[in-house]
Amino acid sequence: MLSQMQRALRIVHSGWKARILTTVPERVKQMRVSRRVFARWMSAAAALAASGRWNPLVAPPNVAAQPVALKDLVPKGWLIGVAINQNQSDGRDGVAVDLVTRQFNAISPENLLKFQSLHPEPDRFTFDAQDRYVAFGLDHGMAVIGHTLVWHSQTPAWVWAATDGGLADRATMLERMRVHIATVVGRYKGKIRGWDVVNEALNDDGTLRDSPWRRGIGDDYIAKAFEFAREADPGAELYYNDYNLATRPAKRAGAIRIIKELQQRGLRIDAVGEQGHWRLESPTTTEIDQTITELRATGVKVMITELDVNLLPPAAPPAPGQPREPAANPYVDGLPDDVQQALARCYANAFRVFLKHRDDMTRVTFWGVSDGDSWLNRGRMNYPLLWDRQRQPKTAFEEVAKVLMAKS
Ligand code: XIL
Repeated sequence: MLSQMQRALRIVHSGWKARILTTVPERVKQMRVSRRVFARWMSAAAALAASGRWNPLVAPPNVAAQPVALKDLVPKGWLIGVAINQNQSDGRDGVAVDLVTRQFNAISPENLLKFQSLHPEPDRFTFDAQDRYVAFGLDHGMAVIGHTLVWHSQTPAWVWAATDGGLADRATMLERMRVHIATVVGRYKGKIRGWDVVNEALNDDGTLRDSPWRRGIGDDYIAKAFEFAREADPGAELYYNDYNLATRPAKRAGAIRIIKELQQRGLRIDAVGEQGHWRLESPTTTEIDQTITELRATGVKVMITELDVNLLPPAAPPAPGQPREPAANPYVDGLPDDVQQALARCYANAFRVFLKHRDDMTRVTFWGVSDGDSWLNRGRMNYPLLWDRQRQPKTAFEEVAKVLMAKS
């Protein structure tokens, strides 16, 4: 089986280099792996081919030979996920669909299940594309994640408005929240594995964000959201999700307070998500390590829910009609190799920490399939993910795969 596999892919191992002599980019052909890792890689590929889950002889067009799939390398019981857009859940972006279904075992909806997509007007829900997203995941045997029920962003203004245009009162806003959660979570009962019930409720200093939900309902809007979600689907996992939990200890402490309060009220909370919108140097591996330890000490599991690594300098958008400063968009002609390598090291280091906490974590989800899909471009050229704009695996993919392969 193995030699047939090697012949099929025309892979050889000589010296310290595994050479994959198929139509993959030069850097993939020249991967440096030890014979031990190479042997493991080959047996993983052979096992996959034997199980019928992967056939190297019928690789679809435009898809790079990917000798391994992340979903086959992660620790048993882990979900490895990706956020997909509507072109992907509707099947129009066939190359991405192939990549997603071969590599991942969980999906998150990049925008489709946000309040404004689902419930644009008080008496109007839109479910067509949403139903297709859920069916896409279930048809492919993936865990389907719901994102997100209660958030200050991407929520239509009517949700918080009184008839006079001011802020709706507590009872009105609570009833709107209840109806939304009951309808949406109820519709996908038994189908959506878990929900980001409340998203981004905290300021960076750990105090509660002054969101319209909080202004209208009070601090217990968070508890109410979890209560309504449990009522709507007692079997669904329920999550609190936020960013900067690794870089801001005060914000992390705020998340821990939220979790403990939910627990004291006897409400269901299964996991906490650090979004993981990270940069090359931040957070450090020590910060990631400590964050997982501290969050896990509450008793809930930890997830990285929106992982990407922003390589661009912080920059305000250019003034209307003005060109952008070239320094704000340094990689228009491609990513220099040293930055490519630094990105790979950054991901590899993060995954080493995740593996150290393999029993504390349940999921790692990337926020987008390939660099071209990422929300971090916004008019610039960013390179935050594991697959490049041609949907080819980057050095970062290889390094993550190696770390996962060497796990035991
Ligand atoms: C982003 C999407 O990726 C974009 O397409 C959209 O324009 C804005 O929202 N935190 C979250 C996600 O919880 O929902 C956000 O997704 C990224 C930040």
